Amino acid sequence: MKRIAVFTSGGDAPGMNACIRAVVRTAKYYDLEVFGITRGYDGLINGDIVEMDERSVSNIIQKGGTILKSARSMDFKTKEGRKKAYQNLKKLKIDGLVAIGGNGTFTGAEIFFDEYGIPTVGAPGTIDNDLYGTDFTIGYDTAVNTALDAIDKIRDTADAHDRIFFIEVMGRDTGYIAVRSAISGGAEMAVMPETKTSVKDIITKLRFGSSHSKASHIIIVAEGDEPGRAQIIADKVKKELPNLDTKVTMLGHIQRGGAPTAADRVLASRLGVGAVEGLLKGKANVMAGVINRTLTYTPFHDTITKKKPLNKDLIRLIEILNGRKYATEA
Ligand code: F6P
Repeated sequence: MKRIAVFTSGGDAPGMNACIRAVVRTAKYYDLEVFGITRGYDGLINGDIVEMDERSVSNIIQKGGTILKSARSMDFKTKEGRKKAYQNLKKLKIDGLVAIGGNGTFTGAEIFFDEYGIPTVGAPGTIDNDLYGTDFTIGYDTAVNTALDAIDKIRDTADAHDRIFFIEVMGRDTGYIAVRSAISGGAEMAVMPETKTSVKDIITKLRFGSSHSKASHIIIVAEGDEPGRAQIIADKVKKELPNLDTKVTMLGHIQRGGAPTAADRVLASRLGVGAVEGLLKGKANVMAGVINRTLTYTPFHDTITKKKPLNKDLIRLIEILNGRKYATEA
């Protein structure tokens, strides 16, 4: 292997730049030529590929977003698109790829490998933490801390006005961001796809709280498969409990930006090094991840198809830390 290329794809995540930096510097460390592809698979198809060196990645470890830009490519889903991508790689004699992204990115990488055999090693970059094969994904810790900062601020005003706040966090169809931001933000409840909390449960909890002199509540709602879910739930609750003062805040894309935390920078650096060293060891069609503090490589197929369950112990904490059992006390 002499020439590799790196790209970021799908939803950007804080720490992607730290990972690009690690990929480029590791490549140079091992005397490889290294290229950056802009806008993910779209750049691969359009030939937006530039050579990089140690200096191209100076002063980016602390930056959110991605210097290589990102996209969710529709063209790469077509055979013609992938053919163009392959031709561009052949033209530049690129014989290995590092793909930084999530589920969609690795789905594309697996198909591309099956069709053209270009070895690709992935690094998990998504705030959602929804990938099997790594305990944490790049960007997740930062997103949780961003959500936490917002929750702390909302709590001040919730308390001042004795209000019930429904705060919606991202996470696609998982509750990873919800569970950690709920525990760290001291939320009274977290509504997540994994726990199937019903509106009835929420009403029960709120009634119980009100009857025990609890005036303000923070309820974290994972967007699930329908962004805007917090508003839908809040409307239903308000209908049943019209006297409560309810408010909804959707945190939205602020969770995707900002300087990565130390944890994300270290993880991203480690996975960037791991991805390049993986390619050099002949690995292909796998994602580098960290499980129990150990660098591992998991087939793309498993990262896409297998489910990483939420830690049930963490879910339990939310209920325990919010007092007595309430579900039966309606
Ligand atoms: O996958 C990251 C993520 O931010 C999800 O949490 C969210 O559901 C989605 O991307 C939003 O995507 P977009 O920025 O394309 O609207």
